[in-house]
Amino acid sequence: MFDVAPSAYRALLGALDLTDLGPRPDDFRAAVWAGLSGARKAIPCRFLYDERGSQLFDLICDLPEYYPTRTETGILARHAGEIARAAGPDVQLVELGSGASVKVRLLLDALERPSAYVAIDISAEHLAAAAARIRADYPGLAVQAVCADYAEAFDLPEPGAGRRLAFYPGSTIGNMPPVEARDFMALWARRLGPGSQMLVGVDLRKDRAVLERAYDDSRGVTAAFSLNLLARANRELGADFDLDAFRHEARYDERRGRVEIHLRSLRDQTASVGGRVFAFRDGERIHVEDSWKYDLDDFRRLATAAGYRTRRVWTDPADLFSVHLLDVAE
Ligand SMILES: C[S@@+](CC[C@H](N)C(=O)[O-])C[C@H]1O[C@@H](n2cnc3c(N)ncnc32)[C@H](O)[C@@H]1O
Repeated sequence: MFDVAPSAYRALLGALDLTDLGPRPDDFRAAVWAGLSGARKAIPCRFLYDERGSQLFDLICDLPEYYPTRTETGILARHAGEIARAAGPDVQLVELGSGASVKVRLLLDALERPSAYVAIDISAEHLAAAAARIRADYPGLAVQAVCADYAEAFDLPEPGAGRRLAFYPGSTIGNMPPVEARDFMALWARRLGPGSQMLVGVDLRKDRAVLERAYDDSRGVTAAFSLNLLARANRELGADFDLDAFRHEARYDERRGRVEIHLRSLRDQTASVGGRVFAFRDGERIHVEDSWKYDLDDFRRLATAAGYRTRRVWTDPADLFSVHLLDVAE
């Protein structure tokens, strides 16, 4: 991490050819104030990803318990040639929630003359560093980094020619409830335009023990990732959360098909955030994230309702994870 003030850092990011439409400290403060004021406390999961949160997520991807990353990577590696043939030459690759931009290399290596790579992520510093690595490793490729909330309205840059292939890996779609996920997919169908495609990674319903271990690992990395939300409030908003007084919890609600992640207060306590004081009862929880799991047919129906035609679906031999190649319907 650079040892500079956030404002100076954002200026540095400008020099790195990054379009910065990302959240400001005021947005985070407003979200924390609103989220801690309701009867059921919650902070939106997009705020999990500041620079530290993104570093912790990268460590999660390497955990033995966290099957999604290696499983999706295996599916992409096996089928990259088929994906590339279906996409055709000269596509503009647009990645949603690009993180460290690792899986996308499998596509960049397989595609025929991709004309551009647009990486969109909410975590500015991590995005700038990942885009710089892609620029260095793919010298002929036009690379554009956009720091933005991908659910918000913004103009999608067109650094290349050719039709668009959106790539939305990591089952990040699972962080939205299904109705919101359908509306989000529909928004992107309109934004991408007819003739475009979407390649989306979707985690599947499975055994409770496998899921709960993936989101509450033995080394405590997933716990540190959730607690980083409070640590971020301490860093950015001058809050005074006692991180030892909250515990990370991940529970699978099998009926709904979602892993629910909370921070549980371990005693009666108060915390001050940007001049406002919030009380937490012993046992009271802050909701920080859900991860919805799908059956293949449920996700196919969602994609159809959002304006796509499913072209292919691939899974791994153990049916842990799926990758869907979708055509935006005319
Ligand atoms: C689950 S991680 C997946 C990272 C990577 N794509 C992968 O597959 O390993 C979610 C990524 O989406 C980004 N993200 C989360 N919410 C976002 C939002 N509302 N807008 C843009 N990016 C977001 C995070 O910063 C993070 O890089």
